[in-house]
Amino acid sequence: MGLQGPRTADWFARAKATLVNGVSSGFRYWGDEDSMVIDRGEGAYVVDMDGNRYIDYQLGFGPIVLGHADERVVRAVQEAAASGTTFAMTTAREIEAAESFKKALGWVDALRFTNTGTEATMHAIRLARAHTGRELVVKFEGCYHGAHDYVLFTTAGAPVGHLGSRRSPVPWQASSGIPDAIRSTVRVLPYNDLEAVERLFGNEGHQIAAILVEPMMGNCFGVMPRPGYLEGLRRIADEHGSVLVFDEVKTGFRMALGGAAEVFGVEPDLGTFAKSMGNGFPIAAIAGKDEIIQDWAKGGVTQAGTYSGNAVGVAAAKATIDILASGEPYQRIRKSGEALMNGVERILAEEGVAGHVVGHWSMFSIFFGEEPPTEFRDSAHHDADLYEAVVRGMIRRGVMPVDDALEPWFISAAHGDEEVARSLEAFGDALVEAKG
Ligand SMILES: Cc1ncc(COP(=O)(O)O)c(C=O)c1O
Repeated sequence: MGLQGPRTADWFARAKATLVNGVSSGFRYWGDEDSMVIDRGEGAYVVDMDGNRYIDYQLGFGPIVLGHADERVVRAVQEAAASGTTFAMTTAREIEAAESFKKALGWVDALRFTNTGTEATMHAIRLARAHTGRELVVKFEGCYHGAHDYVLFTTAGAPVGHLGSRRSPVPWQASSGIPDAIRSTVRVLPYNDLEAVERLFGNEGHQIAAILVEPMMGNCFGVMPRPGYLEGLRRIADEHGSVLVFDEVKTGFRMALGGAAEVFGVEPDLGTFAKSMGNGFPIAAIAGKDEIIQDWAKGGVTQAGTYSGNAVGVAAAKATIDILASGEPYQRIRKSGEALMNGVERILAEEGVAGHVVGHWSMFSIFFGEEPPTEFRDSAHHDADLYEAVVRGMIRRGVMPVDDALEPWFISAAHGDEEVARSLEAFGDALVEAKG
């Protein structure tokens, strides 16, 4: 039985008549009978076309940090939109948003706005290459950095059996249509393994422009960095004159106001941000230290975008960041997130199911296996079928995480005690049902 009710099914059939596979982003297609059509979002809930309300842990793949349709953000956006949205000039709103952004992130000297995380990482890579005069980029297995050609290697969809040996990993290309030449500019390594990074830099360090890393693996179970790992990347990048880029598209403004750099106490050279900085409106940023990011001002390095800094996006960013800066949303997210993590651990123990809650109170996953994962290759030991069965049981009970454990549960400030209690009950019931 699929997840769609009758009206949702009708709408999805209509979607398929125009949108390819009925979606505007490939990750939203869950099959013809399971892909959802959503009517609206309200705080911690999404409502489908049949009027079914679900406690939402997808939160748009992460951005909805305050809750859907937060009225303070919506009001700021409405005001901005009424004054015109796109100009071929800088606006006061853009300056104010940049000031709020910079104040939130202690390590940042300057930034530019863009619209998506994909654009942000693409520009960060170009800056790093231009700054160093080198071409190679190091990324890590299971990390996702957007849909452009430079980074679609060994993302979380990769078959673990096709990654090569740990000492000599083979980049797995996630899509057709990427020129062969690009593959030769990427080096892929297992996450959380500093020795592998040392070894690669020993061989090729003088050619490596950037280390690009999700400081916490927001696309792979929410795996956290081992103590000293990010510090090690910082040191190796410094020793070899490479640029350290933290992709904070998922972690930024979610783990803390200052993102993962604040939580782990390590400063990158460049950072990419999107998602939680605008509570669901399309806004992103590339931020960094003057020594590198001011290369844009010196000329010869292109960054551009018609909609970059548009009034709607920057109004959403300023409103969201200013609300987050009060600290109160993080207290709420932490309370709900910790209660859920502890509750799931307790239920797993009570039911005698081998599993672990992995990650941070703002975004975490449930891994069904004996040992908690520390890198992408560990996904081979996760019972994905059990996880999918449990999540489908939860969706039928009105609670909606993504049915792939690599994608974490996201928590918003609109989630409270009632949502936590109902979610744990649904998890427990769905787990018992799935175990059979
Ligand atoms: C860490 C990370 N970087 C970049 C991106 C790409 O962002 P966007 O989908 O806004 O292009 C994502 C998207 O999920 C992401 O998780």
